Amino acid sequence: MKKNIAVLPGDGIGPEIIAQAVAVLDAVAEKFGHEFTYSYAQIGACAIDSCGDPYPEATHQVCMDSDAILFGSLGDPKYDNDPSAKVRPEQGLLRMRKSLGLYANIRPVKPHDSLLDASPLKNERVAGSDFIVVRELTGGIYFGERGRKDDSAYDSCVYSKEEILRVARIAFDYAGRRKGKVTLVDKANVLETSRLWRETVKELHQAEYPQVALDFMFVDNAAMKMVSNPKDFDVILTENMFGDILSDVSGVINGSIGLLPSASFGDRYSLFEPIHGSYPQAAGKDIANPMATILSAAMMLEDAFGMSQEATLVREACAKAIDEGVCTEDIIPGSKYGTNATGEYVVKHIKRNHIGQDIQGRTAWEHNLS
Ligand code: IPM
Ligand code: MN
Repeated sequence: MKKNIAVLPGDGIGPEIIAQAVAVLDAVAEKFGHEFTYSYAQIGACAIDSCGDPYPEATHQVCMDSDAILFGSLGDPKYDNDPSAKVRPEQGLLRMRKSLGLYANIRPVKPHDSLLDASPLKNERVAGSDFIVVRELTGGIYFGERGRKDDSAYDSCVYSKEEILRVARIAFDYAGRRKGKVTLVDKANVLETSRLWRETVKELHQAEYPQVALDFMFVDNAAMKMVSNPKDFDVILTENMFGDILSDVSGVINGSIGLLPSASFGDRYSLFEPIHGSYPQAAGKDIANPMATILSAAMMLEDAFGMSQEATLVREACAKAIDEGVCTEDIIPGSKYGTNATGEYVVKHIKRNHIGQDIQGRTAWEHNLS
């Protein structure tokens, strides 16, 4: 298959982790006889530096002309502590999501068996967790009217029924293919938008998804349940801001936020990105974990291109690296493996193996016999 991938490395560690994901995609293309071409474009602080716009029109064109978009990370400390900055890197990401109509963000969480000790939570609490956060991505307080008036400031949170319905359908569809349960996380005891979410999701559930279980949880309680009983969740459906906050909590369950991929879907385009930020302190040091971006590329193979075998092999290669301790220092403090070595290991595994084989080229089954 021929695919044209828009590649947006962004800022901070973005370029390093993206380089490893592209190397992995190249290895997949070679192995399975695909042809991937890459169109690079700028987003974030680097785009502001070069043309004053965090999401230039040229980048938007590249995204629209692609079969899928692979994005690294963005942000720069020089903007974080400058409330007066008129243009900010994050605006680039928000404009990209909005203008490409990427309204559903999927963030899967499933701790790896050999990494249970990497979580600060007790093993028995995290073992067996397997859930996804379906975060609404183009509405709510992120996009409502905001401003200043005299000595006060405001950000408004607005949701329409239609915005809730389209992302809720995605959540129910996922639940139908998984453990069959959706938990709507909101603050319906306080917020009117949350009450509209509850009402709309309930109606949709009764009309189209009665076979899926649906429950409701206030966001404060959900934050506590995520760290005390993460196993209880299957699909968490939630609005933009709550999804942003709760999905970082899942990095604690998984052992490192450096392992968590994501996919964003709309009616036409799809984008794949790690959930972590640009980690500027690590930029250029060869210490950032490339796994979240490599696993995002695996989601791209499966969800955007229908290449499930290819995605499985990439995931197996990542799992193998983790099992062998080929992990960056966020997982193994003092690790001798950096960004490049970790990516190289994954690439090597893909080149040498088929699904179910280990790095030496023997199948896992033969290995058990010897
Ligand atoms: C994320 C990030 C972004 C968000 C920032 C960089 C604007 O934190 O993708 O989770 O808040 O959506
Ligand atoms: Mn976030």
